[in-house]
Amino acid sequence: MEIVKGIKDLQTKVNALRRTGKTVGFVPTMGYLHEGHLTLVREAKKNCDVVIVSIFVNPLQFGPKEDFLKYPRDFNRDCNMLKAENTDIVFAPEASEMYSDGFQTFVEVTEVTKTLCGASRPGHFRGVTTVVLKLFNAAKPDKAFFGEKDFQQLVTIRRMVKDLNLDIEIIGVPIVRETDGLAMSSRNTYLNSEERESALSLYKSIQVAKQLVATGEKSVDKIITAVKEVIEQTPLTRIDYVKLCDLNTLEYIEAGEINKSALLALAVFVGNTRLIDNCVLEV
Ligand code: PAJ
Repeated sequence: MEIVKGIKDLQTKVNALRRTGKTVGFVPTMGYLHEGHLTLVREAKKNCDVVIVSIFVNPLQFGPKEDFLKYPRDFNRDCNMLKAENTDIVFAPEASEMYSDGFQTFVEVTEVTKTLCGASRPGHFRGVTTVVLKLFNAAKPDKAFFGEKDFQQLVTIRRMVKDLNLDIEIIGVPIVRETDGLAMSSRNTYLNSEERESALSLYKSIQVAKQLVATGEKSVDKIITAVKEVIEQTPLTRIDYVKLCDLNTLEYIEAGEINKSALLALAVFVGNTRLIDNCVLEV
């Protein structure tokens, strides 16, 4: 497994690989890896000859009051995990390599980023799309792999790829969960044991919504109220949002009934840690 720090270096290596006809799979991450990330790597391995994983905690996608500085980092541990998955190249640039002096070009997907995390975290998706396009230009992948855990991110990246005619196939991978249902996240490491227990309310509330829909409930109000109740009854939680959305546009479905499959998306603070989860409610 090679560790590459420079953009030019990576481009040179990838150019050589591509000349020999190899297909390149790419998994962008911010490190502190878990089974969710490794599932993306395995999927990439299955689909491509060479797999590149990037580890870069992107300052551009964190708000001024967010956790950029304390975001968990353990590069050696990550590398050992990636080696065990037969990853070919780890791309781990410094911030100065990605954002050199005078940097002033950004990518903005305007509509699908207006709701959900885009509404709660101004500038977040602009940071994500900007870094992901830069990473794509560095790794030049045929296919790139993203988790459905960050559903809005996946929709946003697909939109960017379409709108900017990027010749990259985007592959979405289902949410990987702990055995009790908590969606895996690098941020779960912030949770103490009481918070860890409360964090399960996100998954429990999703199960309640699924159950309601399975028994024929379609009322937006009833579904949202039931989800909120589960969370509000749980100590240490504070809801950021609980929303039903159109699967493609991510526009809110505010009232009435859901008459086609919709996204249930939630963001909840557990203690000081903001967690997200989602599911598609099939109608
Ligand atoms: P990060 O949070 O490290 O996630 C990297 C990738 O892993 C994303 O595609 C995310 O959706 C996926 N992922 C995380 N937890 C998952 C889970 N439990 N199940 C399935 N997939 C999961 O997302 C980012 O980094 C950044 O925004 C990035 C795209 C790297 C740009 O900086």
